Amino acid sequence: MCGIVGYVGAKQALSVVVEGLRRLEYRGYDSAGVAVVADGALSVRKRAGKLGSLEELLGADPLPDSTVGIGHTRWATHGAPTDSNAHPHVDEHAQIAVIHNGIIENHAAIRQRLLAKGVHFSSETDTEVVAHLLAHEYPSTQGDLAEAMRRTARQLDGAFTLLALSAADPDVVVGARRNSPLVVGCGLGENFLASDVAAFISHTREALELGQDQCVELRADSITVTDFDGNPARARAFTVDWDAEAAEKGGYDLFMLKEIAEQPRAVADTLAERIGSNGQLQLRELDSVSSRLASVDQIVFLACGTAYHAGLVGKYFSDHFVGVPSVVELASEFRYREAPLGDNTLVVAISQSGETMDTAMAVRHAKESGALVISICNTQGSSIPRESDAALYTRAGPEIAVASTKAFLTQVVAVQLLLLQIAIIKGSSDDLELKSMIKALADLPAQVDLALDTVEPARQVARELVGAKSVLYIGRHVGFPVALEGALKLKELAYMHAEGFAAGELKHGPIALIEPGVPVVVIVPPMGSPMQIREKILSNVAEVQARGAKTVVIATAGDEEAEKVADYLIRVPLTPLLLQPVVATVPLQVLACELATAKGHDVDQPRNLAKSVTVE
Ligand code: F6R
Repeated sequence: MCGIVGYVGAKQALSVVVEGLRRLEYRGYDSAGVAVVADGALSVRKRAGKLGSLEELLGADPLPDSTVGIGHTRWATHGAPTDSNAHPHVDEHAQIAVIHNGIIENHAAIRQRLLAKGVHFSSETDTEVVAHLLAHEYPSTQGDLAEAMRRTARQLDGAFTLLALSAADPDVVVGARRNSPLVVGCGLGENFLASDVAAFISHTREALELGQDQCVELRADSITVTDFDGNPARARAFTVDWDAEAAEKGGYDLFMLKEIAEQPRAVADTLAERIGSNGQLQLRELDSVSSRLASVDQIVFLACGTAYHAGLVGKYFSDHFVGVPSVVELASEFRYREAPLGDNTLVVAISQSGETMDTAMAVRHAKESGALVISICNTQGSSIPRESDAALYTRAGPEIAVASTKAFLTQVVAVQLLLLQIAIIKGSSDDLELKSMIKALADLPAQVDLALDTVEPARQVARELVGAKSVLYIGRHVGFPVALEGALKLKELAYMHAEGFAAGELKHGPIALIEPGVPVVVIVPPMGSPMQIREKILSNVAEVQARGAKTVVIATAGDEEAEKVADYLIRVPLTPLLLQPVVATVPLQVLACELATAKGHDVDQPRNLAKSVTVE
């Protein structure tokens, strides 16, 4: 939520900053703005709307040349998405500009204090107080903007990444972070600050991850990190393991289409080196916690949205292989319950971005309660893995489309790897069965590749469903999370009413929604799954068909029983039941993408959403 970029170096700052904002626009896109310092003055341009509107403004009213600048793309929290609420915000004398990601929780009290001192505000945002606080602190710091930032940060509650520029110091950008992301890009004679490495990946892959409550002073040839009291602090260095091309559309019309197509590679990369040529699992990332894993007696999966659905798949897997009680919790709910956690509880936090505030706060709560926390994450340098005892990175590469696709598939795979490893450590499962599941996992990239053959059939079905008012999704066992995921994709992209149900629940109420013509998407377990599950869902399909529903059946190629009850059929490759979500989700992603396109929606940037939800 909100993307921020800062630059100091020898290049034209504006083009570096705007290019960075383009790569961060997935984080928020309701307004954008930039600020540079030139000839001892601050120049700001900002405008409501997507980045394109700001670029039009910059064309009509150019900024002066400058080698230092900051930029922001906003997802509104306080104040409507208007020009005046867009960032950067400046102090009354336009000497200091600030951009912000997060929420300043005590902004109202600070605003009152500043109003009492006669300060004039020009926006409704929580952020503007920071510009005025910085301006008040700056004069007594002998021109030390970093010190002014530290003094300001100490007065703030809540979540913030802040960047600031001063007209009086054309060589420096300062930043501060608490509970929101901030990474430094380390170049040669130039340095970068951003919410995400994507902003500077075309300039450098060397990065620093700022820790909690740290402040950074960035110059072209130096990076100084301190805590909020000014004591020297260390930021963790890392090298980004993907390149700028990975964050481009690469010939596709939409990032989402590219990311769907990348899924075989993403799954292969997530498995790579984790299954040895001898068929043994080797998850070195878990070495430091393996003795604690041996005594795990409860597993709690924590996540939000699509990642929560990956957790639901994990529960079925855990029940089968690990056999200790497990629950899947929405991170936003978990945090405010008094869930009993102990030293032997394993919390598995799943997050693509590693920055989702609800999940990050739930992780913190779990750590404080003494639980072992392992995160499954796709983003290097993000908060959730940093706060976990161990992290298993998915290797999906940058996911730019707001709707999650390849991240979901790799989350499911990573959760399964983790649970198999626990089963091995605990000796909780039959050796032969473990071996055969590891082999099936190793074969998955090829199966996902075959699942891409569903793209065309799913597109054809989408054309048939354009006029539908509502689409229902049903599944049993791991097909249930797939149904939830399919429905979520349709809601967020096509803005259509959609709901996922456990098929067995239909008769307890939802079947009343069925009327002639209502599309019902059904995930049929692969042949070879326990008969009770297959038979029961096939009778559920017959029940809805008897009431006039149009069935869209996702079934394994060659499944003749499923074909009989299908008005529209999409065939997916054969996998073991527990792995079916990895292939069955693919056509549902395409269905939602196509329906959204047919309705003329912006698929990569759906309304009201942002990719990284860094507010609660
Ligand atoms: C839906 C989607 C969201 C995210 C959720 C969690 O397509 O992308 O539901 O899954 O906001 O995000 P992460 O995984 O970054 O914690």
